[in-house]
Amino acid sequence: MQKILVTGACGQIGSELTLFLAKEFGQQNVIASDIKKATSPLLSGIPFIYLDVLDAAAVNKLVVENDIDTIFHMAAILSAAGEQNPQLAYQVNIAKPCPAAEPPILQWIFTSKQFKTFPTNVT
Ligand SMILES: NC(=O)c1ccc[n+]([C@@H]2O[C@H](COP(=O)([O-])OP(=O)(O)OC[C@H]3O[C@@H](n4cnc5c(N)ncnc54)[C@H](O)[C@@H]3O)[C@@H](O)[C@H]2O)c1
Repeated sequence: MQKILVTGACGQIGSELTLFLAKEFGQQNVIASDIKKATSPLLSGIPFIYLDVLDAAAVNKLVVENDIDTIFHMAAILSAAGEQNPQLAYQVNIAKPCPAAEPPILQWIFTSKQFKTFPTNVT
């Protein structure tokens, strides 16, 4: 059975996706996470944890302790906020969140469409 972590689970995509995954795989196999409080009724009853994806140690700890093998990475800084701080948006949206867990996670899925419009010299 897959054990799934959703980052950015309070967002537009993350909240709907978390609900779908909980129905598909069972609530006990999905952990929702975000830096916001879980106010969406979509997330009620689904395990929720505060997780800042920029905190690599916290991401790794959560993954290892919960035997996570699949991450749906929906945490993001979008639009104007991302354009004002492309370095931060790059770190949150793409660069940071893939953990170096042992054993390695099986799947890491992200949907960011942000960086086609951002400068190419962001590292
Ligand atoms: N909304 C769309 O129509 C759409 C379409 C295609 C692709 N996408 C992609 O899907 C992803 C999610 O988009 P969305 O519309 O749900 O965004 P959103 O802004 O609604 O949600 C992003 C979530 O990420 C969280 N977040 C921000 N920084 C964080 C951090 N450091 N650690 C943990 N969580 C953090 C925010 O609190 C928020 O809940 C993005 O990569 C976006 O490019 C969205």
